[in-house]
Amino acid sequence: MVQDYQEYIEKVLLTEEQIQARVRELGAEISRDYAGSELLIICILRGGVMFTTDLVRQIDVPLAIEFMAVSSYGTGARQSEGEVRITLDLNTTVASKHILIVEDIIDSGHTLSSVIEMLKTRDPASLYVCTLLDKFERREVEVPIRYCGFKIRNEFVFGYGLDMDEFYRNLPFIGTVNLEKYETPLG
Ligand code: IMP
Ligand code: MG
Repeated sequence: MVQDYQEYIEKVLLTEEQIQARVRELGAEISRDYAGSELLIICILRGGVMFTTDLVRQIDVPLAIEFMAVSSYGTGARQSEGEVRITLDLNTTVASKHILIVEDIIDSGHTLSSVIEMLKTRDPASLYVCTLLDKFERREVEVPIRYCGFKIRNEFVFGYGLDMDEFYRNLPFIGTVNLEKYETPLG
């Protein structure tokens, strides 16, 4: 049985209300910035899903949504270390389009910097990043962030798209983990 999150949560870092209020602000900002153009939103699976689906409903310029999945090889399931592989690529061309990448969290920066480099070679009209969370203290590679929901300290977080060994993405809030109380379901 997967543990109930109540057993290991340290604190609620961002409530559902705080997240939704910030998502509305970001949506308004993006709508202003892209007024008169069309957007291609690229959601990075799987963590970016909740944020993307809420965010796009707050944007009022015409937009299309695409999905991309990347996996990173690293020392453990909670770190990424440079080597990033695309496991699901886009179904459309990005050439001459205004691209906005939507991600749940930027940590070391390796994942997103690889995605950006790869997309740049496909000649978009513009390419920007919107991340819900920025764990800025952990950055190893610089990533240009145009829209950021919240800057957070170096703590492992879960909920609202972010997982603990693939679970708890469905929680409407974001919490921090007491790793001493957390038992991995992966054995
Ligand atoms: P980066 O390549 O180190 O920037 O890693 C980014 C990816 O690591 C994110 O897309 C998340 O999947 C994952 N990640 C980093 N920090 C956390 C966290 O605190 N909780 C859940 N996932 C995280
Ligand atoms: Mg992720």
